[in-house]
Amino acid sequence: MMKTIKLQTVSIATLGVMRKFLLTITAILSLASLRAAVYVIPEPVSVQEGKGCFNMTKGAKINCADESLLKSAEIFAADMNTVLGVQLIVTVNNDGNIILSLDSTLGKEEYRLTVTKKKINIVGGSSAGVFYGLQTVKQLLKDGNIPAVTIEDRPHFDHRGALLDVARYFFTVEEVKKYIDIIALHKMNVFHWHLTDDQGWRIEIKSHPRLTEIGSMRKETIIGKHNGPGPHKYDGKPHGGYYTQEQIREIVKYAADRNITVIPEIDLPGHMQAALAAYPHLGCTGGPYEMRCTWGISRDVLCAGNEQVYEFIEEVLTEVCELFPSEFIHIGGDECPKNTWQKCPKCQEKIRVLGLKDDRRHKAEHYLQNYVMGRIEKFLNDSGRKIIGWDEILEGNAGKTATIMVWHDQNDVVKAARRGNDVIATTRHYCYLDYSQTSDPASEPLHMDGRYLSMQQAYRLDPYDRLYTHEKERVIGVQANVWTEFIADFGRVQFALLPRLAAICETAWAYDRKKDLNTFVTKAKTILPGIYQAYGYHYAPYFFEGIE
Ligand code: ACM
Ligand code: ZN
Repeated sequence: MMKTIKLQTVSIATLGVMRKFLLTITAILSLASLRAAVYVIPEPVSVQEGKGCFNMTKGAKINCADESLLKSAEIFAADMNTVLGVQLIVTVNNDGNIILSLDSTLGKEEYRLTVTKKKINIVGGSSAGVFYGLQTVKQLLKDGNIPAVTIEDRPHFDHRGALLDVARYFFTVEEVKKYIDIIALHKMNVFHWHLTDDQGWRIEIKSHPRLTEIGSMRKETIIGKHNGPGPHKYDGKPHGGYYTQEQIREIVKYAADRNITVIPEIDLPGHMQAALAAYPHLGCTGGPYEMRCTWGISRDVLCAGNEQVYEFIEEVLTEVCELFPSEFIHIGGDECPKNTWQKCPKCQEKIRVLGLKDDRRHKAEHYLQNYVMGRIEKFLNDSGRKIIGWDEILEGNAGKTATIMVWHDQNDVVKAARRGNDVIATTRHYCYLDYSQTSDPASEPLHMDGRYLSMQQAYRLDPYDRLYTHEKERVIGVQANVWTEFIADFGRVQFALLPRLAAICETAWAYDRKKDLNTFVTKAKTILPGIYQAYGYHYAPYFFEGIE
């Protein structure tokens, strides 16, 4: 609150000095009121502190003004039971002191939260908005109390994603649900599920049972890095696992209850060695192929000249579409070496029939990849879906209707937006959470080689960098990625994710609110360790010491 100070009658000179003094005091006081002590990540549109606290431990009752809010209320009540051991009562159209309601004049994901000593009121544009209001309450909770406050918020980006790679290492249904809980707490709304790769096929496909019978289990795993001179050592232990269709439905529902859309990724035509091990006729040479037990990029890819391959992909994607109601299906497109296509008579015949030619910029085989992606895109479009592909699909003459997920760097964001594609920025130097977290990588667990990526570095993600105003509209979102070549257990997944996810979620929500690194670091240090501890999440604690 600003204080008014009464001026006495004084000389003009003294008045001048006092004016300066007063202006300084006023500036300090208004800065203090701007930087409210109530910290929330991501930074909301507005925060106004009130007086007193709402006490959550005295048997609060949640009333939902609409049935559609019941699930969010129940999840919140379960959270309060976990962290406080209190049993909140949840009702619909009744009375209560935590009141959840809808207001169609608000944006779908927007909410208004008012906390007083007696009541908590959350009004959302939809159940998503109310859910986000409840996540904010979870952040504000300290010693059973929520400080009186009025908060208004809405996200900046539509796609706020987090990827988990379950192909390199398999994670259980319970672990995947915990990953979803963590990203929900950070108000992310997309779980990008990287389900297939050279080292493991993790989704049951009933029309092709060998994908999981054979392709979900590798015989062993390389120890350490794959890119040294060798000979490499292997652990001699089989590793595998997959999700049944029933389990996938359960996870999709679990995520939907938390306002998270699951976007599955079936990575093609490269990263398919597990599928080739199961169905060798899908490769250029016919195999035999083994499940990949090392990391890196495989030269064995789907044969683009074999019509049976397109039938296979369509049958797989038909089942994928039945399982995942998402608007987008991710079909990969990254890191597909063209060596085998160059030698394969079937692929070369396809190139001839399609009239594809080398030119100054690309080989005919790049245009063959465009053909594969375009053909699968058309199949998915005809099924009412849209595709996302990694930025390699820009090589050649990719269509304008694919959404490009950029993993290389900002140049590719600019390139994709400028040619008219929608873009999701997950540029590796800011968003690849398998990179080392400090400037002393030797002291960290094994990690992917690359630039070290601190929480502060993740915060510097600027998906609009070097874009003109009209091009910025093309950027529909940002995403954090946890690749798991060097992350074999779920504790380490959390350690990679937290607290860097918090930095990315602030870009996702508050890009337009003058992001400020110093303020963010202060907020992160003040609130995140307590929140993560309350929910039992592992996190990288040294971030909070300010190590970069
Ligand atoms: C990728 O990192 N290959 C998408
Ligand atoms: Zn071929």
